[in-house]
Amino acid sequence: MEIVVSGIRSTGNLHLGNYFGALRNFTRMQHKNKCFFFIADYHSLTTHPIPADLHGNVRHVLAEYLACGIDPGAATIYLQSDVPEVTELYLLLNMISYTGELERTTTFKDKVRNQPDNVNAGLLTYPVLMAADILIHKADKVPVGKDQQPHLEITRKLARRFNNMYKSECFPEPEAYNFGEKLVKIPGLDGSGKMGKSEGNAIYLADDEKTVRKKVMRAVTDSGPTGPGQEMTEPIRNLFTIMHFVSGPDTIQHFKDRYNDCTIRYGDLKKQLADDLVIFMKPIQGRINDILANEDYLARVASEGAERARESASATVREVRELIGFKPF
Ligand code: TRP
Repeated sequence: MEIVVSGIRSTGNLHLGNYFGALRNFTRMQHKNKCFFFIADYHSLTTHPIPADLHGNVRHVLAEYLACGIDPGAATIYLQSDVPEVTELYLLLNMISYTGELERTTTFKDKVRNQPDNVNAGLLTYPVLMAADILIHKADKVPVGKDQQPHLEITRKLARRFNNMYKSECFPEPEAYNFGEKLVKIPGLDGSGKMGKSEGNAIYLADDEKTVRKKVMRAVTDSGPTGPGQEMTEPIRNLFTIMHFVSGPDTIQHFKDRYNDCTIRYGDLKKQLADDLVIFMKPIQGRINDILANEDYLARVASEGAERARESASATVREVRELIGFKPF
């Protein structure tokens, strides 16, 4: 059985891009692999969240994970900050990470550009912490999006370096995992690019009906097809792509036909898409609210997850300490 590790930052709520891009696929693999899913609350500190918001953010992401079908009976779901072994491995990996290679990481450069007034050392060593998250369970596979590729490269490099340095085969080199399908990119509503929190073009799982309708009705379109069978522009293709995930095949065909014979009205298309999104999201939102109302359940999931994660993590740290040369008196 392969070991799978994935994490998600605890800042902000999940959007449909997270859902269709990753979460839906996690739920499909949790019964066939040994899966660890965690909420990266230490990573979220690189942006200095307000203390009063931190717990609520984590709680919400946990509830969303569960509402989307992560099964705590099958997968181990936990908070990063509940597993102190991660921070120990992070420290040890920092000793074999070079500042030059961290400074050259494209994601670091992006972050420096985004928050020039807060270039903390945590930001520089973000990939080292991520490597610790992954290596602590000796993961084989890491289901992440393309944006995380540079971090995974560093993880692989550190695994190799550690193994060479300590003449061991302690860490497998984890691979990015795409679920055997091509990477799904969920487009945003602004006409180009992917759906993302920082892009400001996302529909969140927690958005209420009114918000969803407003966002969809405002989505960018074009001035309409001018001839039969004309190729779609990106904004229109994007609406159809989202539709593909939430609408029935007949509905999609109907609007494709209307596009092809040039009788399409984008207002109708958007209204249909909004209707279908609302129907799709309702049960998930119901589950999110039920779970958030059940404090005992959340507490139990978090503590059982932490216990299982620590079992796996402490075994790795023990081995690593020994390899490095620490010995009890
Ligand atoms: N950096 C990831 C993101 O921003 C979150 C993350 C932290 C992660 N640690 C991880 C993902 C370990 C996979 C494995 O999405």
